[in-house]
Amino acid sequence: MAEARKFVFVSPDYGSSITENGCCGSGCCDFEAVVLSGNAKDLTNAVKQRYGALAERAGKRGLEASENKASDKFYSDSQCSIIPDEAAGASTGSGNPLAYADVVAGETILDLGSGGGIDCLLLSSSVGDSGRVIGVDMTPRMVSLARDNARKLELANVVFKRGHIEQIPQDETSVDLVISNGVISQSEWKHMVFSEMFRVLKPGGRFVISDLVTDELLPDSIRDSTGQWVEGVGGAAVRSAYLRMIESAGFVDVEIVDERPGPNGTEEWRHLVKSLTIKASKPLG
Ligand SMILES: C[S@@+](CC[C@H](N)C(=O)[O-])C[C@H]1O[C@@H](n2cnc3c(N)ncnc32)[C@H](O)[C@@H]1O
Repeated sequence: MAEARKFVFVSPDYGSSITENGCCGSGCCDFEAVVLSGNAKDLTNAVKQRYGALAERAGKRGLEASENKASDKFYSDSQCSIIPDEAAGASTGSGNPLAYADVVAGETILDLGSGGGIDCLLLSSSVGDSGRVIGVDMTPRMVSLARDNARKLELANVVFKRGHIEQIPQDETSVDLVISNGVISQSEWKHMVFSEMFRVLKPGGRFVISDLVTDELLPDSIRDSTGQWVEGVGGAAVRSAYLRMIESAGFVDVEIVDERPGPNGTEEWRHLVKSLTIKASKPLG
């Protein structure tokens, strides 16, 4: 059984100094700004390493078909034709939250764990010139790759920031819609992620997230495996606990809009893992 993990932020105030296109400086977006104990630090670094390496490979040549890109599984041919190979190659989401997002022109949308930027790039035309899409990711190489991808498409309404989803570098009540795709299961502090989502959303705002959950607690050997953690399986919460965290953060009208099997594999426990797409709202009042 993994030991209890302590988590303290030493720079809780991102303040108003966040640059439009990057982090806020003074180390607030760096891992060193977050004090973690025990193997929590190792897990976060392992996630960064895994996705940093993926960004590097995808940025060079896109991935081979054999690498089982999320873009091949969850996105239409017309969606894939819009984005650069490097964005498709880095796509590792667990669903397609955009299919349920009902985006309106002019909205401000925040993507938590934006990776190579696939969802942000696709949302750019939906929000139009008067809208804005902001991606946040803690892995520096992923942020660079996403920025390169947005530059290739000459998208002026998309920005990528480096930061942690447990302490989102975004003002409160500034966002109409939060999306996230295959990311929150990699956070050890999911309750903080949900309360941060609540903080940044405007009253009446909504989220649509795709993520991995489990029907029952997975074996300790899986939950304690760094390899399974970085794939989003080791840290997947039990569905009932996951939904409770969403409600505890203050969200209402919580709805599972899509459910499918989790990542393929032959192990016995795999049937317990599900990919859900969940919608919920922040109350108006
Ligand atoms: C499985 S990939 C999904 C990327 C993207 N959403 C997509 O659909 O392709 C997970 C991404 O989330 C980022 N990530 C994981 N945990 C994070 C955290 N606590 N804070 C910020 N980013 C995180 C990783 O760096 C990685 O780029």
